[in-house]
Amino acid sequence: MLWNFLLPAGLAVQKNNFRRLLRTVEALSDLGPSLTAERDFPQTARAMISAMLQAGGAREAVLFGFSDKPSLLTSIAAEGFALMPEPAVIPLLPKHVHALVSARGPIILNSSSSENFLSSNGNVAPELFKCIAPLRVGNKLVGLVALGRREGDALYDSEELDALDLLCNYVAVAMQNHVLAQTLAQRVSENLRLLASLHGFYDTALEAFAAAIDIKHVDIHGHSLRVGRYAAAIGEAMGMEPGDVAALRSAGYLHDIGKVAVDKRLFGKPGSLDPEEFREMADHTVVGHQIVSGVQFPWPRIPEIVRSHHERGDGSGYPDGLLMNDVPIPVRIVALADTFDAMTSPRPYREPLSVGSTLSEIVRLSPQKFDPNAVQGLLLQVRRDAVGSNRTPFVEDRISLNIAPADVDHLAATLQHKITHGRLYLA
Ligand SMILES: [Fe+2]
Repeated sequence: MLWNFLLPAGLAVQKNNFRRLLRTVEALSDLGPSLTAERDFPQTARAMISAMLQAGGAREAVLFGFSDKPSLLTSIAAEGFALMPEPAVIPLLPKHVHALVSARGPIILNSSSSENFLSSNGNVAPELFKCIAPLRVGNKLVGLVALGRREGDALYDSEELDALDLLCNYVAVAMQNHVLAQTLAQRVSENLRLLASLHGFYDTALEAFAAAIDIKHVDIHGHSLRVGRYAAAIGEAMGMEPGDVAALRSAGYLHDIGKVAVDKRLFGKPGSLDPEEFREMADHTVVGHQIVSGVQFPWPRIPEIVRSHHERGDGSGYPDGLLMNDVPIPVRIVALADTFDAMTSPRPYREPLSVGSTLSEIVRLSPQKFDPNAVQGLLLQVRRDAVGSNRTPFVEDRISLNIAPADVDHLAATLQHKITHGRLYLA
């Protein structure tokens, strides 16, 4: 632009600085939503790499995660390098870790300084890196960004380093979140595996596990246990085999296992979640799936129930937006049991709904969102409660059962009418 030429040299530099910072902030706002999502960390890592290439004006970049004992940098994503092993691994000595933790911001490397920060004992030569930025959260090293050459082999100057430094704060937090979620998920998965080998998944052991999931927040206390009981009872009312009913009970116990990796603060939040918080909460399905996928269950459907229990028949659910036909029946049953318990339980932002209102709402949303056969199973169990024929009540005492058998019959007839679109089938 013409006025570029009119600016004194110092101001022109400032303007470039400003532009670069602006681009960095833009990159950050693009990254924002993905930084906290656990859904696809490799994808997030690639987005972070692009942002860092931009911020540093670099052609080559690699993102490393750091693990302790032994101290090791392992690459997560890389771009631009012609020869970069996958993964690239660099063992670190205590002096390297100390130097990286103590560094103030990004560091320009040359052939003599690189050995202060990185060892040459890995499968990648530190000489490839011209600039490194340690990723720290507090005083803890969580990873490292390493940049290679720039366009025309230009040197990195303070503008790029400032922009990179700014970005690294966010990338470090994202890395830390990822590592925490991974470790937690791994630990839970190991415990489950141990449980499998010790007890062969007896109901009582799984009940204990369910209680441990629910303890995270008092308002959902007992939720997993109830969902297990409701799902089993619905399956039983639908005429399922005892083995399938037992599988439904276990799947209900474990359906929210991914919530162990969700920030506890979100459970107690009065009012609705903002989009990012919602995404974090929604990720419990994917994290849960990761946790149970590594465990040998006597019932093969558990992982898919954990992943898909928030899917809805009209494709409005998550994480995959599946349609009813793509959702297996056991998943539909657990989804219904989960919804029934959520609606009849108090939340920080609302009172519990009565059984009558809950069932009316569920029937209103069926068959679009819920499987009508499963809903008929639910109505049947509530009706048995209403006439007093259930030996163990389906609905716990804590909710007053304010519905008469005739009301349940009316709902069942309404649902049937909706499914057949008012057509009458006569023999
Ligand atoms: Fe859930």
